[in-house]
Amino acid sequence: MKVMDEMTTCITKTAPAKVNLCLHITGRRTDGYHQLESLFVRTKNGDQITVAPNEGLSLSLSGPFAADLSDAGVQSDNIILTAAGLLRSKAGIEQGALITLEKNLPIAAGIGGGSADAAATLLALNELWGLNWSKNRLEKIAVQLGADVPACLYNHPLWVTGVGEVVTSVDLDVPIYILLVNPMVGLSTPAVFKRYRMDVCEFDASLKNIPVSLSALQSTKNSLERSAVKLSGEITRVLSLMNTLADVKLVRMSGSGATCLALFQSSEARDKAALVLSKHHADWWVHPDIINVTKEP
Ligand code: C5P
Repeated sequence: MKVMDEMTTCITKTAPAKVNLCLHITGRRTDGYHQLESLFVRTKNGDQITVAPNEGLSLSLSGPFAADLSDAGVQSDNIILTAAGLLRSKAGIEQGALITLEKNLPIAAGIGGGSADAAATLLALNELWGLNWSKNRLEKIAVQLGADVPACLYNHPLWVTGVGEVVTSVDLDVPIYILLVNPMVGLSTPAVFKRYRMDVCEFDASLKNIPVSLSALQSTKNSLERSAVKLSGEITRVLSLMNTLADVKLVRMSGSGATCLALFQSSEARDKAALVLSKHHADWWVHPDIINVTKEP
């Protein structure tokens, strides 16, 4: 969305949550990064990034989870400012930007918050600064910011391989009504991978076919779930409760946790489930949304 008046041009991009419907780990590179295969989808809602012309690069925070970022000391070394600085230097330009992040998604939650924000920043500044770079070209900067930042440049379902940076668009035939639940436990991605390294002696076999249907997905898993649960037992509680929800089609943890997802065939079933969970767990983050299946360039 581009809002113009005589003085300023503001561009706002949604940085939707990313959700891993499955995540298999097939190996480990010599640099310690894990090779994986994952069905990676985006929701409709998420954080909001707004950029406006400015002399230097600066970031301001708002939204329900802004305080968590400030408390974690992330304001000054935020991945958003790193992304903006990297794009500016690669483009060889001197323009700045006032960047505003409305932080609606919980942090350290396994739903891509920082990566999604960084990708949305690249997309917004690409427009603000009139660079007109293709997503392929932006991917080369994105990968320097984090393994799953390239995938977050896309808002449609992807099959993700490599260490998360090799992306292929896919058509999905799965229920799109999704409920995300986080027991408000923050988990650090490196800590979960470290725990995984300690626990696992054998990697997953590579899948023969991409699991694009619900029945194919049901025989997949999130291989980080066992290690994340060892760091926070609350995840087990969330998963057990979600498995008892009426009409639920698939339940599992996303990414490195602790957010868990449930899929439903209808918005009514999803909303009923959201009501049940928030009634009994007012302290949990309970977020009804939909999976975006519309392909964008
Ligand atoms: O790339 P990113 O900064 O998102 O990764 C955070 C950490 O997660 C890495 O430092 C690494 O410990 C772990 N990681 C991994 N394998 C991946 C992605 C992340 O081991 N494919």
